[in-house]
Amino acid sequence: MTQISLLKDKHILLGVTGSIACYKIVDLASKLTQAGAKVDVILTKAAQKFVTPLAFQSVTGRKAYVDLWNEDAHVLHIGLGETADLFVVAPCTADTMAKLAHGRADNLLTITALAARCPMLLAPAMDGGMWDHPATQANLETLQQRGVMFAGPAEGRMASGLKGKGRLVEPIDLVGHIRLAFAKQQPLAGRHVVVTAGGTQEAIDPVRFISNHSSGKQGIAIAQAALDAGACVTLITGPTAAARPTPVGAERINITSTLDLQQATLAACKTADVLVMAAAVADYRTANPAEQKIKRAQMSDLSVQLVENPDITVSVAEQKQALGKPNITIGFAAESQNLLENAQRKLAKKSLDLIVGNDISAKDAGFFVDTNRVILIDKDGKIERLPLQSKVAVAEAVIDWVIEASVTQ
Ligand code: CTP
Repeated sequence: MTQISLLKDKHILLGVTGSIACYKIVDLASKLTQAGAKVDVILTKAAQKFVTPLAFQSVTGRKAYVDLWNEDAHVLHIGLGETADLFVVAPCTADTMAKLAHGRADNLLTITALAARCPMLLAPAMDGGMWDHPATQANLETLQQRGVMFAGPAEGRMASGLKGKGRLVEPIDLVGHIRLAFAKQQPLAGRHVVVTAGGTQEAIDPVRFISNHSSGKQGIAIAQAALDAGACVTLITGPTAAARPTPVGAERINITSTLDLQQATLAACKTADVLVMAAAVADYRTANPAEQKIKRAQMSDLSVQLVENPDITVSVAEQKQALGKPNITIGFAAESQNLLENAQRKLAKKSLDLIVGNDISAKDAGFFVDTNRVILIDKDGKIERLPLQSKVAVAEAVIDWVIEASVTQ
């Protein structure tokens, strides 16, 4: 389900057409291969003016195809098309879009596209207002009506120096779009998962705040795992996590304080099937944050009065009484001592279905690192101790638990 396993052994046909952006697609082919996919590349003649088949072969370890009929297969296009799980064309020029929209078949890429029966994802790249041209827009509509998926184009500076819509989506985000395409068949398709991530901040004055060490990495990994499982994801992030990229496909809401987080979480939970509270929430806020910066001279006798923040999971449980949503609530317990007892107490107090506990005193787990060692405790008292593993793998385990729990509901 994770970054690695969703793409593992998937057969991806990667069509590359003649845009300067095709140099970036060597990186995409490499990323997909590293994620376990079998990537067969077809280059058009124009693409070969920018990159060579050898560049792709070197990163995929597989033959890259060009427009030559050769001894490989008499009906190469049928063979490539039949075995593909997804046909990606990146970059896709205006010309290739037009050919695909009209069923033209004048090169190996377009012939294979006609023969293939797998889903298709296009990542357009074109300069100088070609994207906005009514002809391209009409082709877009035709292709979308046929179920073809699109990634981009993005806005920004193009090779000509002009600014506008037409840039190729960056390879890292194209991987996200490809994952979304595969996720459509996954078990949480149609479910709404809300994930909170990162620490909240409570202002002391306009420059200072109270917060914690949470980076948001674990929560963001959970959002990605939920997307990979097919869910529609709302990701609510505190300021530290806000600096990290949004997983492709997630709806992102940035918050600052615990009260902001409570408001955003309660609103999102009205339609949620699952809430994962991975955020590290400040339990207290300053009673009277200063409107102006507190000067050094005022600080020697400064004392900051705190007032208690609400427990968001408790307010979610109250709202659930009225609305019946979310069906599943998962919390985290980051503890420096008595992990099991503290986690079990929180599970009950916060009406959680599952709590993910971790011992923050370990150097190789929790804050500051990409690994975590957690225990999963469910409301029936079942305890599962997971080994030290990446936060991505922990996220996968949590979402696997959700999948199992959703099946039995
Ligand atoms: N949590 C919450 N609202 C709060 C505090 C925590 O919803 N005001 C959630 C966290 O997102 C997490 C779980 O409750 O999923 C446990 O958080 P934690 O900070 O460990 O627990 P606290 O209730 O703050 O307990 P303590 O400070 O005693 O450890």
